[in-house]
Amino acid sequence: MAFPAISPGISGRSRSTSYSLSWKQYNATLPRPGVPPPPGAAFRRQALREARRRPAEARLRVVPVAYFDAASAEPLLPQAREALLTALADGWADPARLHREGRQARLLLDQARESMAGDLGCRADELSFTSSGTQAVHLAVLGAAAARQSASRGPGHLVTSAVEHSSVLNAADWLARRSGTEVTTTGVDRLGRADLAEFAAALRPGRTLLACLQAANHEVATVQPVAEAAQECADRKVPLFVDAAAAAGRQAVPAGWSVLVASAHKWGGPAGVGVLAVRKGVRWREPLPADDREGRRVPGFPNVPAVLAAAAALAATTRQREDTNGALRALTDRIRARVPALVEDAVVHGDPDSRLAHIVTFSCLYVDGEALVIELDKAGFSVSSGSACVSDTRQPSHVLAAMGVLTQGNVRVSLPSTATPESVDKFLAVLPPIVARVRDTVRTAGSS
Ligand SMILES: Cc1ncc(COP(=O)(O)O)c(C=O)c1O
Repeated sequence: MAFPAISPGISGRSRSTSYSLSWKQYNATLPRPGVPPPPGAAFRRQALREARRRPAEARLRVVPVAYFDAASAEPLLPQAREALLTALADGWADPARLHREGRQARLLLDQARESMAGDLGCRADELSFTSSGTQAVHLAVLGAAAARQSASRGPGHLVTSAVEHSSVLNAADWLARRSGTEVTTTGVDRLGRADLAEFAAALRPGRTLLACLQAANHEVATVQPVAEAAQECADRKVPLFVDAAAAAGRQAVPAGWSVLVASAHKWGGPAGVGVLAVRKGVRWREPLPADDREGRRVPGFPNVPAVLAAAAALAATTRQREDTNGALRALTDRIRARVPALVEDAVVHGDPDSRLAHIVTFSCLYVDGEALVIELDKAGFSVSSGSACVSDTRQPSHVLAAMGVLTQGNVRVSLPSTATPESVDKFLAVLPPIVARVRDTVRTAGSS
């Protein structure tokens, strides 16, 4: 049986200060019950002795100097890890079954649903679990549109802000191509805040199937005027979909939504748990083949242990969020103030006041964001660039483009709850020489 490999570094090179072995050598040293180490390797026997001398925690805790990509995934919280291990033992069975094991899994699932509903401000029966935030977004948009499409005359209409996550924009695009739904994309100001007047003017009573506005932006952290948008929607009887993936757990979920989405790995839960909430009385119809699970909204067997861990993480994050936000805001304020002073031709984006505490994005003229990410990674700092979730395509960020700000050389720093002032100061020390080096490379390549 294969054992999970634990890699202390990337590409076989250790970035951890406490390791001198490559990941292959290191994995060979891990004790495996009943499996002797490969024969004939004196080196490995020696390594095994050394590895056993280290406490288990030190052997398994392999972290880079600073992980600053919490907006992609917050590291799993200890509360989530504990809940996951318990639920793996007790909640593995099919919660739809009537036998003892199924009832036990059902009990855990119901507890998780109650707890999460309380933290997100909805009723337990409004909330369903999906396999990701993206799946929840797709079901939210397609289900709300499908329910109202039949009642509306004509092909229907959808409103989104220009800075929604790619999953929202892709769902809107899918509807446009499949069913001829007309999509109006409304603008934002230079801080990334939705233009409320334009958003409201785009709503067409009796025709607009759904309006979409995120709770806060996942790239530049700007908080959106959801309560005001909800009022405009209510006045025109248009349901409002709020993507709260970036904000849930970190801020109270804004009132006024008809359909809400969140994602557990953004608040320190495990990956693979999304949340879809549909307010009582809001029309929503399953856009996929029917299934009895999850209030007939999400097909398939839910991952009960992961859901329980997600609920434990949300409860812990919600409890600690005032303290966490206070500490992280001080650190991102420092980055916002220091980067333009330390790096020539660098601009910081997003609303300086009304924002998520853990995210700060800046752009550096004359460099490629990917090159900066790679160089910062070599220096031990894990950050992201580009349109975060579509960075594979190397497209400039659609968020920054919509804001009309510099898209070149952008870096998103998003601090986990454990970030320290020392790690931020180290980041601020390595950033200027790295930008200068990358700029030099570009200049040299350009002149040769
Ligand atoms: C605002 C927002 N919505 C939706 C998603 C998609 O969530 P997931 O990564 O769980 O699919 C993300 C992920 O980055 C996000 O930031």
